[in-house]
Amino acid sequence: MTKIVYQGRSYERRDDETVLRCLLRNDVRAPYSCESGACQSCTMQATKGVIPSSAQEDLKETQKVLGYFKPCVCKPEGDLEVVALDDAHQQKQQLTVVEKSFLNDEILRLRLSCDESFKYHAGQFINLFKDDLIRSYSLASLPDSESMLELHIKRVPMGVVSNWLCDDVQVGDPLSVAGPLGECFYHETENEEGLLAVGTGSGLAPLWGIVRDALTHDCDKTIILCHGGVTPELLYYVDELRELEGAHDNFTYYPCVSTGDGSDLPDGFSLGFPNDVAFSKQPVLSKWQVFLCGHPDMVNNTKRKAFLMGAALKDIHADPFLAASRA
Ligand SMILES: Cc1cc2nc3c(=O)[nH]c(=O)nc-3n(C[C@H](O)[C@H](O)[C@H](O)COP(=O)(O)OP(=O)(O)OC[C@H]3O[C@@H](n4cnc5c(N)ncnc54)[C@H](O)[C@@H]3O)c2cc1C
Ligand code: FES
Repeated sequence: MTKIVYQGRSYERRDDETVLRCLLRNDVRAPYSCESGACQSCTMQATKGVIPSSAQEDLKETQKVLGYFKPCVCKPEGDLEVVALDDAHQQKQQLTVVEKSFLNDEILRLRLSCDESFKYHAGQFINLFKDDLIRSYSLASLPDSESMLELHIKRVPMGVVSNWLCDDVQVGDPLSVAGPLGECFYHETENEEGLLAVGTGSGLAPLWGIVRDALTHDCDKTIILCHGGVTPELLYYVDELRELEGAHDNFTYYPCVSTGDGSDLPDGFSLGFPNDVAFSKQPVLSKWQVFLCGHPDMVNNTKRKAFLMGAALKDIHADPFLAASRA
């Protein structure tokens, strides 16, 4: 057993328990969401003790130096003294909803006001707060040419935050957000051969940003985007993506439908899961950058397969849309 000192109070940490679980077991109201190291909403600062490097993965170098770490994946060898981050350190701010519309029966598009002081890369995500709850949403907008943030939110049955955003939040309402966060964005790499982007459902959000970001920065390599839905109606931005395809010879878009036998598939749609369609179109991924977003199973399985097909791990950028864990 080791000791965790949080905001001056000491708690015994059981063997194999994370710092976060230890605090929650002791009724400490610590913020968290994914509980798997992805969303950074639980980030705290250690003021004494040794932080395992795995608890600082994906944090900025400056944050690591300051002792920031993710308690949800932290199992220290010895005692640790930690403090919560205040709103300023979390970079929490209020943004106003300026547009609200549905892209299909289950996906809401929210646009939030933002000025140029909000610096981000297309494809990163923000954390959005509803009282004590925190949920991550990816940015679909382009930082340089669009003066608002765009989010695509899938309505999840019984989902607390997605249904609140779909039903209750209105244009003009302020939303509390922190970020930007995450590493899922495009930057040109040496000798890159192409970009493969695969997403399901609202997983198109970051890819819509990433693909347009690459094209606006004159990327002339082959870019393939495969977006999957259960039915054609559950895909969205089909016309916009076809228009983009028409305007750029190096960009190909495959809308993919995973159910049916294909007999009533509309023209231009592919039958199958987007990851299978992607690999059939591009079976060799050496020197390709791969972007995977959406359903966690799809993302994690495709990540493994992309590696086996030649993509370097450093060139595979993945955001599994993990659900928040329960206390
Ligand atoms: C890095 C990151 C980026 C994300 N980006 C986006 C995004 O751009 N758009 C988006 O829509 N979501 C995104 N998510 C998921 C999002 O953060 C929430 O998990 C999601 O909106 C559900 O929240 P909720 O409060 O409505 O559901 P909850 O109240 O948390 O969950 C209710 C129930 O639904 C289940 N559930 C949760 N999510 C799903 C799901 N997707 N499908 C089926 N069942 C589910 C839960 O296990 C639970 O049983 C992202 C997640 C991460 C970690
Ligand atoms: S990173 Fe810790 S809760 Fe998501």
